[in-house]
Amino acid sequence: MTWSELDWPALDRLRAGFLAGPSAGASYWQTHADLASYDFTYGARIGWKWDAVLAELRLRHWRPAARTVLDWGCGSGVASRRVIASFGPENFDALYLWDHSPLAVDFATTAARAQFPSLHVATAALSLNFQPSTLNSDSASDSAPIGLLVVSHVLNELTPAARAELDALIARAESVLWVEPGTHVVSRQLGAIRETLRTQFSIIAPCTHALACGVFAPEHARDWCHFFAPPPSEIFATPDWVKFGQRAGIDLRSLPYAFFALDRTAPPAPATDLSRIIGRPEHFKPYARFLNCDATGLVELELLKRADPALYKQLDRTKAPLVYRWRRDGDKVIGGEPLAP
Ligand SMILES: C[S@@+](CC[C@H](N)C(=O)[O-])C[C@H]1O[C@@H](n2cnc3c(N)ncnc32)[C@H](O)[C@@H]1O
Repeated sequence: MTWSELDWPALDRLRAGFLAGPSAGASYWQTHADLASYDFTYGARIGWKWDAVLAELRLRHWRPAARTVLDWGCGSGVASRRVIASFGPENFDALYLWDHSPLAVDFATTAARAQFPSLHVATAALSLNFQPSTLNSDSASDSAPIGLLVVSHVLNELTPAARAELDALIARAESVLWVEPGTHVVSRQLGAIRETLRTQFSIIAPCTHALACGVFAPEHARDWCHFFAPPPSEIFATPDWVKFGQRAGIDLRSLPYAFFALDRTAPPAPATDLSRIIGRPEHFKPYARFLNCDATGLVELELLKRADPALYKQLDRTKAPLVYRWRRDGDKVIGGEPLAP
């Protein structure tokens, strides 16, 4: 796919569908060109969010033990391709793809086979021997283990029945990587799911603790757990990306996302004094201010520029995940170091 092959009307139609929200579980993929155009644009942006998530997982020294991946609600399959490329295709035996759109499964299968010729890539319903519509039955085929479950940008499209299907898959998964848009509503929905899973899995990221999520404290009703991925700088000098941003009504600079990484087989993370900055720091002339999450909850912290000018500057410029070990005096940060890669 190139910019000149892009099906702009298809992108306009997809955009209208995304904005209108789900329509009773119906699929909006109509043609192969829909998926190719999505993969090249919206999918690329989702890929950059995954890159940020995968960078954070490396920082947390995590990699999946499972050798099979299931990408559920795969669309064009960008999420699982990013995951497999990041950890190395040689570390996986099979990728299973599932979407209620057969067209999407077909596109994602072709794309994954092209990128990973040695990997076994197949439709999940056939290869895992399950039919999502019968997951609630107790037949043996419904209990086959699932390795790494990848879920990306599906939450606001799911009917209650589809959510139940996904919950049943999570119950069989060894680990789960789930990335969603970083909006207030969707992030808090994802956080509520984390609450139901945090005693069954070890939480790898973004949390630095396995306690109840701080955003659900009554005083944090307006907050939400989200982060910003850095888009590649060259897109701002690419007229086609600028045109896409304008036509889609998207601010290309901003890539907010929410996510969690859970692993059933990893030992529970030891208590740490690590913090995760939520959102991004706001910089004022004399100080920076940010929402900080750690095992003691969510709290707004300030770093005076004169306390640590280099740290003040780093918080403004770094593209790395904002995981820090602070030295604090109450709600003032007086110094700190990022988690080392
Ligand atoms: C916004 S797209 C995201 C696609 C892909 N995961 C990504 O991150 O680019 C949402 C996808 O979820 C799929 N989907 C929606 N409801 C579903 C369901 N009940 N079962 C399976 N897939 C579903 C849609 O067909 C679509 O491909």
